[in-house]
Amino acid sequence: MAKISIIGSGNVGATCANAIAHMRFASEIVLLDIKEGISEGKAIDMMQTAKMYNFDSSIRGVTNDYSATAGSDVVIVTSGIPRKPGMSREELVGVNAGIVHDVVSSALEHSPDTIFIIITNPMDTMAYLTYKVAGLPKNRVIGMGGQLDSSRFNYYLSQALNCAPSDVEGIVLGGHGDTTMIPLIDKATYKCQPVSSLLSKEVADKVVADTMTGGATLTKLIGTSAWYAPGAATAVMVKSIILDEKKVFPCSVYLDGEYGHEDVCIGVPVILGKNGCEKIIEMDLNENEKELFAKSVTAVKNVNKILNEDKVIKD
Ligand code: LAC
Repeated sequence: MAKISIIGSGNVGATCANAIAHMRFASEIVLLDIKEGISEGKAIDMMQTAKMYNFDSSIRGVTNDYSATAGSDVVIVTSGIPRKPGMSREELVGVNAGIVHDVVSSALEHSPDTIFIIITNPMDTMAYLTYKVAGLPKNRVIGMGGQLDSSRFNYYLSQALNCAPSDVEGIVLGGHGDTTMIPLIDKATYKCQPVSSLLSKEVADKVVADTMTGGATLTKLIGTSAWYAPGAATAVMVKSIILDEKKVFPCSVYLDGEYGHEDVCIGVPVILGKNGCEKIIEMDLNENEKELFAKSVTAVKNVNKILNEDKVIKD
């Protein structure tokens, strides 16, 4: 059975631990935070639900003790500051880059064979940073964003079509940013029919716009970043890795020529199995989608440049 460590026990980290426990595929879940007591407290709180929810995972919380994460199959990185209302994810790069750099190095010392899932924003840049500092093969560094954005896309589609989210099928590629994500509206379907034949252009455009600002809308309402859907999106990805389900998820992974781009981590559909990202699926994009994808790559690369300027990574 699997051991999963989650670095950062804030809302997203703790919700992720809770979702993983409820999905019953991990024997051990370790929550780690630098804030004294928060991981321990949340872990005990969750363990006190185990009998009621009927799960057997052991959830343990520690304060900055990376030795407790030793031998993790998957390490999930949520550490860093979340955005405040009105902030873009990209504005967090300076402070979060240093944190993610240190977290990844410490976790790797104790779990050299692990697979990293990066959630900290700006996520695509943090995944790229992880790939560069960890020196791991690219299949073992995966950014979580596209799965969350796709869930939000399916939610907005279901609202527009007055149906359940499970009746629609939509995918979001590109960066995990308010202006960089690409909800593929032309490829979205409702019960096997293209949604473009069911929604007016005006409504379809609104679904796309609402999806792109989905995270910002919640940040404005709640006062900080969302956590239920980010936690669930991460948990289903980890499940596919641990149980070797080989399901397809849009994830931020390092491109080496796929989709005509290289040296960037950005959202594309991938197969997640026991080796992490086992295959990048190259979808047949139309001209408009290709153009949007190229623009998204440029925008993410511009944020990545800050890592060089701040000397977090070397050229
Ligand atoms: C969001 C954060 C997790 O989109 O990036 O809610």
